[in-house]
Amino acid sequence: MDILLCGSFDDNERDAWLAELQRALPQARWHMSATAENAGLITAAVVANPPAGLLQGLPNLRLIQSLWAGVDRLLSDPSLPDVPVARMVDPTMSAAMAETALWATLSLHRGFYDYARQQHACDWRQLPQRRADEIQVTLLGMGQMGRTCAQRLVTQGYRVTGWKLRSGAAEGVALEHGMDALWPLLACSDIVINLLPLTPQTGDLLDRRFFEALRPGAGLVNLARGGHLVEADLLQALECGQVGHAVLDVFRSEPLPAEHPFWKHPQVTVLPHIAAATDMRGAARIVAVNLQALRDGESLHDLVERSRGY
Ligand code: GLV
Repeated sequence: MDILLCGSFDDNERDAWLAELQRALPQARWHMSATAENAGLITAAVVANPPAGLLQGLPNLRLIQSLWAGVDRLLSDPSLPDVPVARMVDPTMSAAMAETALWATLSLHRGFYDYARQQHACDWRQLPQRRADEIQVTLLGMGQMGRTCAQRLVTQGYRVTGWKLRSGAAEGVALEHGMDALWPLLACSDIVINLLPLTPQTGDLLDRRFFEALRPGAGLVNLARGGHLVEADLLQALECGQVGHAVLDVFRSEPLPAEHPFWKHPQVTVLPHIAAATDMRGAARIVAVNLQALRDGESLHDLVERSRGY
């Protein structure tokens, strides 16, 4: 089996991926670029946000397997070949995301960001302490990551409601769906965590209207994509106290430009897109299972519905 490995990674990262993928799939022949000689041999592409156009001209391509969980950038390539696209769904990544969601929730709930600000001002002051079961956490997006985060927070004693655009079910977690259900949910939320896929329906969702609907002083945690957030509207919502503190892992422009106001904003915690890094060993095994299924004509896992956008 001839497989193209390509993406926006540097040489070291690519070599590390190649080593793991070769270990997981020793019989495959790996190509780092498509040429006139090998283009006809390649039947699958394993990709990490490749530059637009890179997957054109592969006449026998039958699967595009993403190493990223979010496929918004991949799907935005108008020249993406019309073959099945699988995204990375990895329990190890979901567990890491749940750790980040739990850390942010605990920090917001227990006022640890307020205490960090107080420390800067040498301000010794004890803030009121609330119980976890008095804190309403709303999780936007209830895919595998959202469900794992929700269950972790429920275990920790928080009141958790999941929200998604379409109807669905989630074990052990209250679930709402649709835009009409969002606004009343925001009004009683102490903390909102975003884990939605970025699609034309969810882009710019975290905007002025969204912030105005929140319970005043709520915490916002964006672990999904920068394209969900209207940054100027968040700055305004922080200014007027509608949002108390924001934990942001993703941005419209990454790396976040040095002059961006989020860097030094006392009510913003900036993370460099690390909420849940792909675990190479686990991901390589997941890729191998799908590529073997492709080779053996079996059904493929975690396929993206292109019309839905994830
Ligand atoms: C990370 O953001 C991913 O989509 O895997």
